Amino acid sequence: MTKLNKKFAVLGHPISHSLSPKIHQYFASQFGINLDYQRIDVESTNFKKTLSDLKQEGYEGLNITLPLKNLAYEICDELSLRAEQAKSVNTISIKNDKLLGDTTDGLGLITDLLIKNISLANKKILVIGAGGASNGVMFDLISQHPQAIFLTNRTITKSHDMAEYWASLAKDNDVLLNILSLKEDITFDLIINATSSSLGNGSVIFPENLKGYFWYDMMYGKQTPFLLKAEQNKAKFSDGLGMLVEQAAAAFNIWHHQKPDTKSIYEIL
Ligand code: ATR
Repeated sequence: MTKLNKKFAVLGHPISHSLSPKIHQYFASQFGINLDYQRIDVESTNFKKTLSDLKQEGYEGLNITLPLKNLAYEICDELSLRAEQAKSVNTISIKNDKLLGDTTDGLGLITDLLIKNISLANKKILVIGAGGASNGVMFDLISQHPQAIFLTNRTITKSHDMAEYWASLAKDNDVLLNILSLKEDITFDLIINATSSSLGNGSVIFPENLKGYFWYDMMYGKQTPFLLKAEQNKAKFSDGLGMLVEQAAAAFNIWHHQKPDTKSIYEIL
């Protein structure tokens, strides 16, 4: 009898350009695991029903991407501490008819930064954006014990809400959490763009005259206005492809209990 492939998928909308199937198939090949990894286009309105269908069809794990991560957080039966704090789920394991939600985005970001020799302990970090993407990585950023995390956003009231939400975890970890003020003249060790500004066609609104040693855009695949600014400032910079790969590796580890080698994947992507 032939062994059936393990069934996995990535769900989002739009989803046609997702690199997740390629990444997971490559990881699986390192361990001789046979995977069936699909891309499934789902809108928010059909998400709950689709999850229930996939459960019935014997899927073992699902990656969740935009715009469904917060909805997944609401629907999952059980959550990891990370997912609960971030209010975001990008990795679902299906076990005993239950949806177990976790998030590996923050871990993906930290791991990629470490690979790029950027450690966060005692550093000053600026996070631009106050939506799902920025909140999704705050738990892991704080856990790295930076000296300070500054927040800013086009709609600044959302940064204040975000600071209030993360205040207690930051305090427990001795991390100063501040809203960026235009009066301050700080050179950040790391500036992270967690906005979706590069997706839109309109103008990109960031604070003027930012100064930082390393600029990281969580987007990947194109020269964003943020990275252009980094280049103009003669700073070091990176897009978020490494974060994508490392969040996938962390999800792979949750499902298969194996740590894939991620160095060799960039030629394939
Ligand atoms: P995501 O889940 O990707 O974070 P989101 O929750 O819609 O998506 O949040 C998008 C973030 O990108 C917000 O911080 C948003 O700023 P506002 O809160 O002011 O809307 C930010 N953003 C989107 N377009 C932007 C632009 N053109 N310039 C600057 N920030 C932008």
